[in-house]
Amino acid sequence: MGNLPGRGDGPAVNSAYDDPVQILVTGGAGFIGSNFVHHLVANTDAYVTVLDKLTYASSEASLRGLPEDRVRLVVGDIADAAVVEPLVAESDAVVHYAAESHNDNSLSDPAPFVQTNIVGTFVLLEAVRRHDVRFHHVSTDEVYGDLDLDDLKRFTEDTPYQPSSPYSASKAGSDHLVRAWVRSFGVRATISNCSNNYGPWQHVEKFIPRQITEVIEGRRPRVYGDGLNVRDWIHTDDHSSAVWAILSHGRIGETYLIGADGEKSNVDVVRAILRHFGRPEDDIEWVTDRAGHDRRYAIESGKLRSELGWEPKYQDFDKGLAATIAWYQENAAWWSPMKHETEAKYAAKGQ
Ligand code: NAD
Ligand code: TYD
Repeated sequence: MGNLPGRGDGPAVNSAYDDPVQILVTGGAGFIGSNFVHHLVANTDAYVTVLDKLTYASSEASLRGLPEDRVRLVVGDIADAAVVEPLVAESDAVVHYAAESHNDNSLSDPAPFVQTNIVGTFVLLEAVRRHDVRFHHVSTDEVYGDLDLDDLKRFTEDTPYQPSSPYSASKAGSDHLVRAWVRSFGVRATISNCSNNYGPWQHVEKFIPRQITEVIEGRRPRVYGDGLNVRDWIHTDDHSSAVWAILSHGRIGETYLIGADGEKSNVDVVRAILRHFGRPEDDIEWVTDRAGHDRRYAIESGKLRSELGWEPKYQDFDKGLAATIAWYQENAAWWSPMKHETEAKYAAKGQ
């Protein structure tokens, strides 16, 4: 098995190797990681090992239907060096998604965020350093803090870090570790910072699936504060194709911002969901705002597009949203068991 090439070394990985590539995907039983595993199986010859602790946010069902001779699940903690070491040693590349990922949870209990997002990333970096394995670190645009609503600026790869929440601070910390391991130890790593994802298999604690499932269950969507906060939405399929482009052709040591020009205020997203269900657009429950709530995120993804030729497939948010709503309508058996517990947690905070 060969190493993944850098840009200019040849064509995409799946056509550049005699032997298929072995890829370790951390957090591959989560929302975005599982989508990437499906992307690998559909578009490459790679063999995939998923390393996932199977926290509340994971779903083994999201990996259902994948060929057993190409995808294997190892249940374990990325912060456990004894688990990580042999898996990294046998891999050509590690794509690192595993994280505690929900801002609201980081405000109630930051400890697992520091442990998994910072210590876990450190353990992985030490292993890829020892075995000289290509590493791709999946991060968020939230490391840059927020933008004003009336600002025309968008985040670029040069925007200074200014994280607001324990979640974004822990992701910023992990990004800094990756850059230090590239510079100090020559680790062959890339970083991507992506905007807010939506699509099937997203936990109902997150904004879009929470509102869709509230409406399906006959309640009103629940919007924080004045609802004018803006997020830059990207379909998770487009996130996966971007990560693959970076892994196969990105330049080592570089950071790429991933975004699909999908800026929308929260209230506009909720109105679109209500319209879809034929409900009045003002049928909204206004709830307590999140502490330190970031105002606006917006991504300038020109580097990724011009250097690697990446383009999002989902250019029309309403179409992507309609497909996502249809998926939640058809998959109540998946989300119902987690819905009650999630809403009980929110209710305790008045949200
Ligand atoms: P998720 O919460 O749905 O999934 C995270 C997965 O990581 C779960 O399967 C969980 O079991 C696993 N995990 C957690 N702690 C672990 C540990 N210690 N060891 C092994 N596995 C562990 O998250 P997601 O929304 O799929 O996000 C994946 C990655 O993408 C994260 O790194 C996140 O910061 C980043 N990201 C997310 C978004 C978004 O909109 N959700 C946007 C940009 C970047
Ligand atoms: P979220 O999905 O938690 O993502 P992030 O915090 O990473 O942006 O929230 C997206 C936006 O929606 C954010 O501005 C907070 C807001 N929000 C609500 O208004 N109501 C909700 O019930 C939730 C979960 C989020």
